[in-house]
Amino acid sequence: MAETLLGARTLETSGGEDAAERMPFRRRHVLDLDDFTPHEILRVLDTADIMKEILRRPIKRVPTLRGKTVVNLFYEASTRTRVSFELAAKNLGADAVSIAASGSSVTKGESLVDTLCTLQALGADAVVIRHSYSGAPYLAARYLKGSVINAGDGWHAHPTQGLLDAYTIRSKLGRVAGVRVVILGDILHSRVARSNLWALTKLGAEVILCGPPTLLPSWWVKRAAEHDGELMPGVTLSTDLDRCIEGADVVMALRLQLERMQAGLLPSMREYVRLYQLNGERVARAKPNALVMHPGPMNEGIEISSEVAHGLQSVIEEQVANGVAVRMALLYLLIGPNINLPVEVEKR
Ligand code: CP
Repeated sequence: MAETLLGARTLETSGGEDAAERMPFRRRHVLDLDDFTPHEILRVLDTADIMKEILRRPIKRVPTLRGKTVVNLFYEASTRTRVSFELAAKNLGADAVSIAASGSSVTKGESLVDTLCTLQALGADAVVIRHSYSGAPYLAARYLKGSVINAGDGWHAHPTQGLLDAYTIRSKLGRVAGVRVVILGDILHSRVARSNLWALTKLGAEVILCGPPTLLPSWWVKRAAEHDGELMPGVTLSTDLDRCIEGADVVMALRLQLERMQAGLLPSMREYVRLYQLNGERVARAKPNALVMHPGPMNEGIEISSEVAHGLQSVIEEQVANGVAVRMALLYLLIGPNINLPVEVEKR
């Protein structure tokens, strides 16, 4: 093994010593995982392994992105994603600036495109954007010369969460291929479920999406019914948690997104808890030592019991910690040294 650019020893994961640093990563933006190849996903996970090594040091800083500026532009609330991107940028030596829409010129009527052009003029190399409108990061990618990372757009996608969840599963179980993952709860409104679907199936996992019929997208139900129960290869739907959790290697509970929910989707919260809460009895039906995951923030006592959320099988805090390593990996791969992709942007 060689001492590398990052000052970390690389891990022999994808074909040799410092292979993770030598191979080109020809991608400017991370908007969703639907267009990632399995190889690209593995490249991110392998690079995150290197970042974990940096994070284990007494001084968790390297100067790799010195002189670069990363702007976090958050139009929706966030704790985990915003803080971990800020830490990721700082750990790599970049300047990190965080902007909440509530404290910016957006409150004076500035449009998203004008805000992006302003950030570009101020020298942003990467913009990490969270927005309530699905597609907002795609608009940003049309106008910015730098990189755009989607930190969650509406119900559509949360690619960095999908990557950190895949990373956590691989770290804990040693593989993602062949792993049986139940994603449970408010599938309809979940950008986390959508991005996890891509990440996990591209790496060969079997995914079961489980929730009440009103919280499963109706066209997914129709499509699965027309394709022998499969939504897409490796993905099935279920409304019966007690049955589908049997034999699961991983159970990922999702937050009930009450703020996105129209009236009438659930008969009552008590009924939801009775049928779909991830509690100790249900975890016991999964494989012994199955992983309990949740992207956060949690409604403890609703989609997950406190006992399970903080129990021995829970890796929820590890998911949060892994978020820093995975986001460091993405920043390094997108705006790190030797990245030289042609740029074409629209003029304002
Ligand atoms: N999982 C997630 O996106 O959490 P935050 O909303 O706190 O960023």
